[in-house]
Amino acid sequence: MKFFIDTANLDQIRQAHDLGILDGVTTNPSLMAKEGVTGHDNIMKHYVDICNIVDGDVSAEVIATDFENIIKEAESLAALHKNIVVKVPMITEGVKAIKHLTYKNIKTNCTLVFSAGQAILAAKAGATYVSPFIGRIDDVSYDGVSLIEQIVYIYNLHGFETEVLAASIRHSNHIIKCAEAGADVVTCPLDPILKLLNHPLTDIGLEKFLADYKKGNQG
Ligand code: G3P
Repeated sequence: MKFFIDTANLDQIRQAHDLGILDGVTTNPSLMAKEGVTGHDNIMKHYVDICNIVDGDVSAEVIATDFENIIKEAESLAALHKNIVVKVPMITEGVKAIKHLTYKNIKTNCTLVFSAGQAILAAKAGATYVSPFIGRIDDVSYDGVSLIEQIVYIYNLHGFETEVLAASIRHSNHIIKCAEAGADVVTCPLDPILKLLNHPLTDIGLEKFLADYKKGNQG
């Protein structure tokens, strides 16, 4: 399973990268705005800065919603760096664009996916990744992890090669549940990744090991 970080914050990307477990980055227009990255040139430069930190797929989202402009934007994003994956929304024009970009060998991440039907369309169009937003599904009282299970089952049954990228992850247990469900990738903020480290018995155990070593090596 690949681990992506879902942020446009360069310090957090560096921190996750330094842990040695980072396989890529996902961003979206809200995450870019949160970091105060605005204006076409600054946004483009920021994507390149991210690509220079992490040697793995970096998702950059288009703003256009019509076929022609999605393709134009996708081509200029893809030209920025070899690791850019173009994030395209799950809309009619988006599905057409994913099909076209796949034919042109440009990697895509179909975003804003909330149902198995949408995931089937993304796979049929040849998306490299499909991004079901599990936290937002939980927010409206459905079960986001069940959707991951359903999509993984369907993709395996039919041999679809699109990778299931579990997104909108809110806490560490989401990561574990998505791993159990067979997600190919989880993308999440830094905090749930770091919280995977925590266990009180690890802290208690380490404290005792160190204390026993000290006792045995006194004088
Ligand atoms: O990867 C999608 C993600 O950025 C959305 O997360 O927490 O805004 O639902 P959230």
